[in-house]
Amino acid sequence: MVTLKINGKTVKAKEGSSVLEAARSAGIKIPTLCYNDALESYGACRLCIVEIEKNKRTTIESSCTFPAEEGLIVKTDSPRVIEGRKLVIELLLARCPNVKVIQELAQEYGVADSSMEWNKENEYCILCGLCVRACNEVVQASAIQFAGKSADRLVDSPFHRSAEDCIACGSCAYVCPTGIIKKNDLEKSAVCSPDGTKEEGPKREILNWQVEYELKMCNTCGNPFAPVPHLQKLEKQFHSLPQFFNLCPSCRDYIEIDEDKCLGCGSCMENCPVGALELDDRGGYEKYAKVYVNNCMACHTCERYCPAGAIS
Ligand code: SF4
Ligand code: SF4
Ligand code: SF4
Ligand code: FES
Repeated sequence: MVTLKINGKTVKAKEGSSVLEAARSAGIKIPTLCYNDALESYGACRLCIVEIEKNKRTTIESSCTFPAEEGLIVKTDSPRVIEGRKLVIELLLARCPNVKVIQELAQEYGVADSSMEWNKENEYCILCGLCVRACNEVVQASAIQFAGKSADRLVDSPFHRSAEDCIACGSCAYVCPTGIIKKNDLEKSAVCSPDGTKEEGPKREILNWQVEYELKMCNTCGNPFAPVPHLQKLEKQFHSLPQFFNLCPSCRDYIEIDEDKCLGCGSCMENCPVGALELDDRGGYEKYAKVYVNNCMACHTCERYCPAGAIS
């Protein structure tokens, strides 16, 4: 653990964590736009800037990329920080005047309007890179990327064509702070051609990356629940029970852990693909795995890895 001072408060943080994580663990709010705790920090938006005193020098740094170190003195809301943050918001407002989250930040920080000029109207992407990082780091599909330079920089599919490697998982749309990634799940759609109109079953389209895929229907309730290529990719990656690929989340059987059988070895935790399990540390052998139901997707991978048969 390292000890630092944030806004005059002594804060203990895990070694290797960032100043932002240290502040959040102490309940101190710092605004962010390009940060997500499941992804590598990137330092793109600069909204999370703070004042840091280290070795008697004071600098302005982005808290999501600056490591929490022993003895740091951090101010998250000094006049210099607020001025810098206002400038960041003004730039964002000039680029994306119609984005709700930017408008809300402008209101919160008293930025009435932006004096800066931007040559495009209706820009909704702030180039935070969350979508690209989610697709690379979590989904491991690497289907989209940054393209272009300066004012023409954007996130796009390769060669602005249909993103071949996209599996339509929707993670990019989920993390995008501005809502510019258009993911539509359609119950029914119709394709019109000179040969007539053909009805198609449920499908997901992601307009930005020009992809559309059939949605798999749940074997129990019949509701569409995931794009077929997404399930095919997961099937190659996980040692899950067939129910995971055939049933929607509402119809799956969720796991139960028999505390008497659990050895506390942590094998289930190491193999859970979404980090839904945690060991409840009771000291000695008195440990058992606890399931965080919010994150569990009932894939039953953990069941396969439990040496004691404690998971069913
Ligand atoms: S929907 Fe496509 S582009 Fe978006 S994260 Fe999933 S694979 Fe990547
Ligand atoms: S599309 Fe959304 S997530 Fe991707 S860079 Fe732009 S604002 Fe960020
Ligand atoms: S069933 Fe839940 S806890 Fe077990 S591996 Fe799958 S997601 Fe993780
Ligand atoms: S949240 Fe830290 S730079 Fe964007």
